Amino acid sequence: MGQSNLYHCLNVHQFDRSFVEENCALADKVRDIAKSKTGAEYLASLLNHKRAMLYFVQPSTRTFLSFYSSCQVLGIKCAEVRDTKTSSEIKGESEEDTIRTFSSYVDLIIMRHPKENFADKIAASLDNTGRRVPIINAGSGKDQHPTQALLDIYTLQRSFKHRGGIDGKKIAMVGDLRRGRTCRSLSLLLSMFDDVKLYFVAPREFQMTTDILELLNICKTKYEITDDLNKVIPEVDAVYVTRLQDEWDTDEGGTQKYDVSRYSINLGNLRMLKPDAVILHPLPRREEIALEVDADPRAIYWRQVRNGMWSRVALISQIFGCSKNINDYYISNY
Ligand code: NCD
Repeated sequence: MGQSNLYHCLNVHQFDRSFVEENCALADKVRDIAKSKTGAEYLASLLNHKRAMLYFVQPSTRTFLSFYSSCQVLGIKCAEVRDTKTSSEIKGESEEDTIRTFSSYVDLIIMRHPKENFADKIAASLDNTGRRVPIINAGSGKDQHPTQALLDIYTLQRSFKHRGGIDGKKIAMVGDLRRGRTCRSLSLLLSMFDDVKLYFVAPREFQMTTDILELLNICKTKYEITDDLNKVIPEVDAVYVTRLQDEWDTDEGGTQKYDVSRYSINLGNLRMLKPDAVILHPLPRREEIALEVDADPRAIYWRQVRNGMWSRVALISQIFGCSKNINDYYISNY
């Protein structure tokens, strides 16, 4: 089992297939170990000498709590800043100085920020100080959400465990693909798998942007662009549904809407989905998945949430170099 050299986790370009697969395997072990009190205590002893800052200056429920819980699983103590009105930024301090201050107190900074590349900038500037700490990007603007992509891959991998894994699968991404960072990051991770075909299902103005399509071309990943969800549903092994990202409207000058009912899963079109296909959603959901769909065994978005916590435990343990301890503990006890 190789030790990873990942320090900052800023974008999916840093991952290769073996890293992603190792992260999934590690997440599986962690969730087994955490089932017993002795196992949970072992995990919580691994990094109980570390502290983390969660700097989330964009709305978040799941990702914030997921990281918070993942840190707790490993014994890491957390502090948080979620509202810059309560920090010295209100006194005119730059965000860079605020974050440099955190680095004096903690060993890990997990950040969600509306600006693309902000996490990269902070990581680069901390690298030039005497107090470098790892930065994890928990969502950067409309651009990237690398840890969501890791947990999405983990969820797909578990779903297709007995069907040859992710290789060869057909996966549809539906909704506001232009402004949805989850689909952008996930598309790039999926391009590492063999013979995957992606379907980008969105109105033309909300389609996947050319920067991602060009990268898929380079990887020779097949994809189809369409606005017809009902045509795609019977063909795919997974549907990844996303919401309209209208919080960006003001930035872009005006309201941008589409008819969400055409990009939604409901009891009507659910009938066309293969019996062994799965439905994912990064959440939060609005009306793009009808509540009645939750009872269908193919709806796995609530399991996806829990997978996220284990996948992030695995990631943090890789960053701090304790994945070997977890693997060794697993081998000796299971
Ligand atoms: C996503 C995000 O923040 O990009 N949520 C999440 O992290 N689970 C998706 C979204 O907000 O639509």
